[in-house]
Formats: sequence, C-alpha cells, structure tokens
Amino acid sequence: MAKSIEDELLLMSANALPRLLIVDDEPPVREFLSEALAPSCANIGAVESLHAALQAFQAGEYDVLLADICMPGGTGLDLLALAQQLNWDCTVILMTGHAEMDHVVAGVRLHAADFLLKPFSLDTLQDSVRQSFHKLQSIRSGRTERDRLFSGLRERTEQLKLAHHLLNNSYHSALETLVATLEAREPQTCAHSFRVRTYAMHLATAMNYPAGDLPLLGYAALLHDIGKVAVCDAVLLKPGPLTAEEFEQLKSHPVVGERIIHRMGFLAGACKIVRHHHERWDGRGYPDRISGSEIPLGSRIFAIADTLDAMTSNRCYRGALSVDDARVEIQRCSGTQFDPEIVAVLASVPNAMLCELRKQADNDAHIARIPDLNPDDSPLCAAAPLPLFPSTVGA
Ligand SMILES: [Fe+2]
Repeated sequence: MAKSIEDELLLMSANALPRLLIVDDEPPVREFLSEALAPSCANIGAVESLHAALQAFQAGEYDVLLADICMPGGTGLDLLALAQQLNWDCTVILMTGHAEMDHVVAGVRLHAADFLLKPFSLDTLQDSVRQSFHKLQSIRSGRTERDRLFSGLRERTEQLKLAHHLLNNSYHSALETLVATLEAREPQTCAHSFRVRTYAMHLATAMNYPAGDLPLLGYAALLHDIGKVAVCDAVLLKPGPLTAEEFEQLKSHPVVGERIIHRMGFLAGACKIVRHHHERWDGRGYPDRISGSEIPLGSRIFAIADTLDAMTSNRCYRGALSVDDARVEIQRCSGTQFDPEIVAVLASVPNAMLCELRKQADNDAHIARIPDLNPDDSPLCAAAPLPLFPSTVGA
C-alpha cells in the first residue's frame, strides 16, 4: 500500500539522526563524547567555550547542544539562556561534575532538555541525546502543523472575505440595476436616486451617522421610490395637478416600498427609512404623520437630500434652481418640513462639494443605466412646459 506524505514524514523523522554540538572546555571530554556519539548522530561539532558555541551555532545547523555547565567565559546555563533568548531551534542538555541545586533549578527554569551528572554511562548519554532530539522533533512537527493550520485558516478567511465582497457587489449591482429599470417608467428616476443616495450619505457621514448603518441608508435612498411601481400610470405620469384621490394613491408609495424592501431580507433595516421618507419634522407628512425625532434619522437626512436634488434638477415643468436658491428654500423650511440640525449640516457643505457629489453620482448612474431603456426624447418632456405643481415635487 502506498504511504501517505504524513507517513513518509513520520518515517523520515523516526530515522533522522541529530546534529550535535558538544560544548566543553576539556579536550579529552570533547573527544570522548564525539567518538561515543558518532554512530547515533548525523554530524558532530565540538567547541570549547560559550563564545565558540555561539559562532558554531550561527555558522552551522545543530539540533542538540550538549554543554558543560562550568566553562571559561560563560557557563552552560548562559548558553541555555542565550538559546532561549535568541529562540534557537534546538534543545540543550546540560552536563556537570558537581550537582548544585541552584544549577538544577536554573536549568529547569530555562527548559533544559536533560541534566547529566558526570560520570554518566554511555547508554545514559545516548538515551538522553535520542530522547531530547525526539522531543525537539515533536515540537517541530507540532509547529509545522500549527503553521499549516494557520496558513489554511488565513487562506480560508481570505476566500470568505472575497466571497463576501463578491456577494456584496452582486447585491449592490442588482439593486442599482433594479433602480435603473424604473427609468423605463419614470424618466430621471435613476439619476435622481443615485444623486439622492450620494447626498444623503455625505450628510450622514458629516453628522457621524453610525458607520455600520451607512450602507442601509444608501440602499434606502437608492430605492426610496420603489413603491411607485404600484401607482398607476394615469397618476404617476399625469402632467397636470393630481386630484385628492390621485394624490392619496401616490401617497401609498412609501408603504408599498417598505413592503417590497422588507421582502429583501438583507435590506430589512432600510424599511423604516423608506416608509417615512415623506414625513415632515412638524408631523404634517405621510404616511404616519409622525414628527421630530420619531422620524428615523435616515429618513430625515434623506428628506433634505431628496429636496435638494429635486430643486436643483430640471423637470418637465421647470428648469433647475440654483444650489443657493435651493439652500434658501430648505432653510426656510427648517423646523417645519426639515430637521433643523440636518439643515445646519447641509449649510456647512460647500457648493463645490455638492457639485462634485452630483458629478460623481451622475457618473455612477450613467454606468448603471440600461441603454435605450428610456430615450432622452421622452414624449412627456417633449411636451410644452408645464406649470409647477408643488404638491408633487419630490413625491
Ligand atoms: Fe417618494
């Protein structure tokens, strides 16, 4: 039967011999140990001092250091401490002719692999080297496995992040496409929705809106009028003033929009923003006539963004107002239609920034636009200029 890679590695590990560095200041001892351990080691180096051991370890590769405690220029304990400090990938066996409790305790604390009291038998020495080496191999194997697991975990995490990113992009793209399709029925919807989203997110960021909720605010702004799909053409596209009954039907779109968005589970948090996007600060809006801070903050921000864009964009029945004129009108409605705090935030945004935001949003809308879905020469807009109907502006 073929061996797995793990089996092969285990076999290689079992058959591997240690590379040994002997550190002892007495030449006869170094010679004896070298000869005695030669058959059970891959290679052996032998040096006389701590300094020489440091040089030898840095120059070569060793698995086991067999060090005498008493040496000139530094003890075996110093060598052990150095190995710990420099994180050497080896194990250290200490030898001594004088068993002193302080040395033993220090050796244990510094994680010496073994402590050999001279004179020791050859079997004892060989056993000590073999077991210390096997323990080192076990540690190395565990480290390799841990690194492999961490590497796999990192790779998996990156894959999940990528999948999450792609999924978000898909949602994002799908929702933008959905808005772009609304253009077929109501001209300018796509660009208006993109601009309102951009303005709303800028205002929200400026007033420290919770960062985690910003995407939902963006989606709510983008889809705010999705409920208009339930409003009949005769009302939605009517070029003249709406009757009271028609206006009631138009006013249903925030509630319908909430229902539609609620079906998209990941947008559930945007439902209330959509439902209340036509409420007024003074409670005279719709559908629930709530007022002040009862209105979700996202809806209050949206209301200003929506009005700003509606007033500064061309309509079939009038040309675009200037940003300054729109500011005056929004300021006039501060405390009645709009949240005064958000009106103040808008006042702090320079015209140049609003202009840049508009350009950016128009560009995004252009990219999302579905070609030939809504010819620019819409019969509605080609008709003679219509009078201004305030009741439907921004509806
Ligand atoms: Fe609306």
